[in-house]
Parts: sequence; C-alpha cells; structure tokens
Amino acid sequence: MRISVPRESAPGENRVALTPDAVAKLVSSGFDVSVERGAGTAAGFVDEAYRDAGAALTERTEPVPAGEAIVLVGKPDASLVRMLENGSIAIGFLQPLTDTEGVAALRDRGVVAFAMESIPRITRAQSMDALSSQATVAGYKAVLLAADRSPKLFPLLMTAAGTIAPARVLVLGAGVAGLQAIATARRLGAVVSAFDVRPAVAEQVRSLGASFLDLGVQGEETEGGYARELTPEQQQAQHAALDERIPEFDIVITTAAVPGRPAPKLIHAVAVGAMRPGSVIVDLASETGGNCELTEPGREIVHEGVTIVGFTNVASLVPADASRLYARNVSELLAHLAPGGTLALDFEDEITAGACVTGRPSTMVAAEAAS
Ligand code: NAI
Repeated sequence: MRISVPRESAPGENRVALTPDAVAKLVSSGFDVSVERGAGTAAGFVDEAYRDAGAALTERTEPVPAGEAIVLVGKPDASLVRMLENGSIAIGFLQPLTDTEGVAALRDRGVVAFAMESIPRITRAQSMDALSSQATVAGYKAVLLAADRSPKLFPLLMTAAGTIAPARVLVLGAGVAGLQAIATARRLGAVVSAFDVRPAVAEQVRSLGASFLDLGVQGEETEGGYARELTPEQQQAQHAALDERIPEFDIVITTAAVPGRPAPKLIHAVAVGAMRPGSVIVDLASETGGNCELTEPGREIVHEGVTIVGFTNVASLVPADASRLYARNVSELLAHLAPGGTLALDFEDEITAGACVTGRPSTMVAAEAAS
C-alpha cells in the first residue's frame, strides 16, 4: 500500500504527518511512502532524510487511487481533495464534529476518511491517540508562552537582593493539556492551582503538587471520560466563583473543552479587568471560541495591562516533537488498518469503525442509525 505525505496547507501549520523515522519503519514493514518535497522542512526534517528513510520524493502530491492513502495533520484543502479518487483513504485531524462541509466533500468523492480525533479513547488505541499527544505538547508550550510574557519570575528566589515570591498559576480544565501545564509550571517553580468539572481529576491535580481549587461546582463525566456540559445554574455558580478567584493569579492557563460544543466561557471581561497589570492568560481553547470572553482566536492582545494569548495551534509551535508523536500515532493507525502494508479494513472493529467518518459500507451506517 502506498502512503502519500503532502505539505500541510493551513497557515501556521509547521507539523508534518510522518517523520523520517516513522517512514523508515513503515517502509520496513511493507508500505511504500511518497513525500512531497518540503513537507517536513518547517518541522526540521529535510527532504534528504526522507529519501534516506526510503521515501520517494515528489514535487506535488499526485492523485491518490483507490486503496492508497494520504496522511495529513490537518484537513486536506480543496486542491488536495481533488487528488483523492473514489476508494482512496484519507487520515488526519478532519474535525468531523465541526467541519461538516469538509467531511461532505470527502464523502462526495468516495473517500474512506479516518479522523484522528474520532479514534476511540480505549486502552487498545492509546498509541494512536493524537488528541492526547498534541494536547501534551500544547499544555507544555502554553506555560512557556505565559512565562515568556509574564513580567515575573516563576520560582521562589531568595537572594542577597531580597526574596521574590513564586508566580501563582491557575489551570482551568485539567485534562491532558491541563495536567501537562500543571506539571510544567510546577517544574518552573510556580505555585499552581487547578480546577476541572470532572470530580475524578482532583486527585490527579494533587498528585502533581498543585492544589485543587474548590469552586463549589461538580460536573459529570461521560462514558468516554469527557466532561458533560454544565447546566445553566452550574455555569452561573462557576462564573461567580471564578470572577472572585481569578484576580489572585499571575497566570491563568485555560484548556476547558466539551467535545463538539463551543468552549465554555469561564473568564469574564470583568474578571480580566480585576487582574493585576502584567498578568497573562493563555487560552488553549481558542480554537473552539476560547474560555475567556476577550480572547481573539489566533491573536495575542493586551487588555488593560493583561496579556491574552489566543493562538489556535499551539502544538505546531513545537513542530519537531509534536510531529514525532503524531507520526507515531498515525503509524499505529496505519498498521491497524493495513497490517504488513496490505489494506484490510474491518468495520466490525471498534477502532476502525470509530475513526471512520466517511466511506463505511452503507449497510453498516444504516444499521447504526437504526440502533
Ligand atoms: P478535553 O480537551 O475535551 O477537555 C479538557 C478538560 O476541560 C477536561 O478535563 C474537561 O473535564 C474540562 N472541562 C470541560 N468543561 C469545563 C468547565 N466548565 N470548567 C472546567 N473544566 C472543564 O479533554 P481531554 O484533555 O482530551 O481528555 C479528557 C479526559 O479524556 C481525560 O482526562 C481522560 O479521562 C479521557 N482520556 C482517556 C484516554 C484513554 O486512553 N483512555 C486518553 C486521553 C484522555
């Protein structure tokens, strides 16, 4: 089976779907790999490294026929979609819950599309979990972005010139990105507090040396481990408690998300207005609208002395390691879909069926809809 790796087309996307190391492993296990020239450059992987790993270099992505695959980080743009022939395979972060048009375009061309974000979060699929791998990178980088913007040092410093109090960091949403942000901020010496609506998280927060902020609000967890959206009354209680507590902190990192829904608004303009000048908010939920009312997705702004970083693709700011982790996730999925390099799609399998967002045999889709 041949796999094509195109250059990513989204502005600011520095990652690449396969690294040279991943290519070498795929080639040795029976796949043919083509890489568009320059695909890995922004992540630090040069064309020669891909060639040495056994990939064919192409000037542009060529048409992908039935039974062959294209692997991406983001969604294919219109010109790439035209390269995908009936029965071809596409793999990437395809945003199936929000980009209905993009998914429809793939369906119309008869593409069998697998969305990395739809891979079930079961133990067997952990090595394919790109949501987690990229959230880990983003959580780490969010803290460095904050530390860089903050006028304060993070650690407690006792020097002959006096004592500097440690920075106080609040992390809202302690899922994968949030827990990594807590760990990174702790390593830098900050005093860290965190809050999440899922009750199970409190213990994980404490085990990282942070304290769990008691806002008097407790939400629920779905079977998949995600948060359920809070009721309007719970949201109101959370807002009131946060408006009061947020000004205590120098840095707030927000990661709160509910799959398929706009990000919950946790930081009101009034709370930002009450923060000390020099405080920093890094809003990792900006892609789905942001956790802060004032976040401008994709931008960094300063509001009454408070810096609000709303970058949308933070994992891409650490492109080499983000790509290494993503490439491992994609390679594991490829090995699952095509053991030994031979495509063998089993739609009875939970991972294959869960990740597939277009192109499943229509009888199965009808049966699922009826159940
Ligand atoms: P996410 O990106 O969907 O959400 C981030 C965090 O925001 C979550 O912890 C969520 O509870 C929290 N949140 C939602 N609304 C909030 C609000 N109003 N206020 C404060 N926090 C709020 O979630 P993520 O990080 O992708 O994963 C969440 C969970 O999924 C994990 O902690 C775990 O339970 C499960 N998971 C399971 C895996 C597996 O292999 N079994 C792998 C990775 C995650």
